[in-house]
Amino acid sequence: MKETALVTGAARGIGRAIVERLAADGYRVIAIDRLEDVHAVAATLVAGGAEVEAAVIDVQDRAAIAALVERHAPLDVIVNNAGITGTRKFEDLTEEDFRSNFDVNTLGTFIVAQEGARRMRNGGRIVNMASRSFAGTPQMAHYVASKTAVVGLTRAMAIDLSPRDIKVNAVAPGVVDTEMLHYMTPERQQVMLSLQLLGRIGQPEDIARAVAFLASRENRYITGQVLIVDGGRSLGQGQLPPEPSPFN
Ligand SMILES: NC(=O)c1ccc[n+]([C@@H]2O[C@H](COP(=O)([O-])OP(=O)(O)OC[C@H]3O[C@@H](n4cnc5c(N)ncnc54)[C@H](O)[C@@H]3O)[C@@H](O)[C@H]2O)c1
Repeated sequence: MKETALVTGAARGIGRAIVERLAADGYRVIAIDRLEDVHAVAATLVAGGAEVEAAVIDVQDRAAIAALVERHAPLDVIVNNAGITGTRKFEDLTEEDFRSNFDVNTLGTFIVAQEGARRMRNGGRIVNMASRSFAGTPQMAHYVASKTAVVGLTRAMAIDLSPRDIKVNAVAPGVVDTEMLHYMTPERQQVMLSLQLLGRIGQPEDIARAVAFLASRENRYITGQVLIVDGGRSLGQGQLPPEPSPFN
């Protein structure tokens, strides 16, 4: 039986890679984004024989999300990937910065997850997109707070949906090469690169692979977890030049 997966923020970047991966894995994919470009993503995959339907919807629009999900129910997988970011010194952050990040990243995740879970088959899987930044990142307090809330939401959902055997996990990417990264100054990007233990910035496909596992039926016993996918950056070190050891 073909399973149905809903992916948000699917027009580009990580979301697009997730749609491509899930389509290749044999899911019927419902790809949503607030950008029209999501239609082109679906059209390319459909031309290659995949079953993908696109919809231009804002994740904050509960009525539109509910109607879409109703049309495609029952769902087997939901990937809450849509998100926004920004960098600003803490002293200069506005309430609007704060609200907009919470509205999309946290409330948007809640709305789609709730409408989706109401129409999900028992045994389904939900993957929320957090960010490694929940462990701390400079000049992004609004984003960090909204993604930390996604981690809390993930754990709470895992508990509340466990009676239906719905597994809920989060993926927390490190720095990934998408439009989101291009908001950063070249100097900041260079510092980010120097912190990557594996010596490279992540690619959207690196994240899609992790999402695909947690979203799959292979995931039978993992719920409420946060999988950090950051090439080792969370170990706290970039590569250092070798030094002579005093013990040799
Ligand atoms: N790129 C990174 O370094 C990085 C790191 C950690 C976490 N993430 C997270 O991964 C996710 C994807 O990020 P990305 O790097 O691909 O970013 P991106 O900006 O390239 O893509 C985000 C997509 O979400 C869509 N979107 C934004 N707000 C929306 C809304 N209200 N309704 C519907 N769609 C909406 C955008 O139109 C866009 O297509 C985000 O949740 C982001 O926070 C990214």
